[in-house]
Amino acid sequence: MKLRIAVVAGDGIGPEIVTEALKVMETVCKRFGHLLSLDRRLAGGCAYDVFGQCLPDETLEACRSADAVLLGAVGGPRWDGLPGAERPERALLGLRAGLGLFCNLRPAKVWKALEGCSPLKETHTASGIDLLVVRELTGGIYFGEHRRSADGRAATDVMAYSAAEVERIARMAFDGAMGRRRKVTSVDKANVLETSRLWREIVDAVAHDYPEVELNHMYVDNAAMQLVRAPAQFDVLLTENMFGDILSDEASQITGSIGMLPSASMRADGFGMYEPIHGSAPDIAGKGVSNPLATILSVAMMLRHTFGLSAEADAVERAVGQALDDGFRTADIAGSGSAVSTAAMGRAVCDRIAR
Ligand code: IPM
Ligand code: MG
Repeated sequence: MKLRIAVVAGDGIGPEIVTEALKVMETVCKRFGHLLSLDRRLAGGCAYDVFGQCLPDETLEACRSADAVLLGAVGGPRWDGLPGAERPERALLGLRAGLGLFCNLRPAKVWKALEGCSPLKETHTASGIDLLVVRELTGGIYFGEHRRSADGRAATDVMAYSAAEVERIARMAFDGAMGRRRKVTSVDKANVLETSRLWREIVDAVAHDYPEVELNHMYVDNAAMQLVRAPAQFDVLLTENMFGDILSDEASQITGSIGMLPSASMRADGFGMYEPIHGSAPDIAGKGVSNPLATILSVAMMLRHTFGLSAEADAVERAVGQALDDGFRTADIAGSGSAVSTAAMGRAVCDRIAR
């Protein structure tokens, strides 16, 4: 199979982690006989420096014509002074909207070898965390009207959802649950918000088409609490854009290592953009100490969700598990032990795929 991938390495540690993820990609292609074709493009602060805008048209076009996008991270203190509409984060929002990526998958699980990293270790509740946040990504308050009054003393952000927007993300969540433990927890604020009451109605209706899946509804404040109290209860967490942003950060932290978590932003046709959940970490950029595993695991998600190559995806995930079991740790997950470099971790994974 030919895998045509647009690569947007971005800012900060983006380039170094993407380098390792691409080595993994090459190793997989070699072992399984696939052809890799890469189209490298700029987005984020680095694009602003060259083009005067964070998301140049040519980048969006290149992403549109690829099969999938691999993204590192965007942003950094150098560009923090830019006005809201020009900031590097806008490149991310522009890619999501411009590519129609309404569904964001954020799996969070505890790797056996890393259980000790979780802040929940004292109560042992970290054991068994294996959940998937399905976050609506192109609607809600992120994309409603943002307005400031003429005198600058009042502001409004509109949260809006259509039934169709809720239905398509709900279907993605139930489909995802069918391949997992068949449980969906839909998170909303239906005791206050009208968008949440619509959300609940639609999710209930979609649930009728999935009789094997158990559905429950939870308010977002309770969900935030349950995530630290008893996180192993969750399989698929389905939620709207802003709640998903917040809960997925919380879910990532309870696994003990934000440097481990991949993500996928998808359309219904399988096209997707894949990136680590963490940011560009400008403070450690260029030192060769960042953890490439989140980006490597994003490549595994790409192989599975866009290309349907599950044996290849399993090979990558298994190799990551083995590298961890064999004691490889980058600084973020090393605790008081010794750490290996970004490149050494990438190599450890490649070696275990090639075997
Ligand atoms: C994320 C990030 C983005 C978001 C920011 C950078 C706009 O926090 O991907 O979760 O809020 O969606
Ligand atoms: Mg976020």
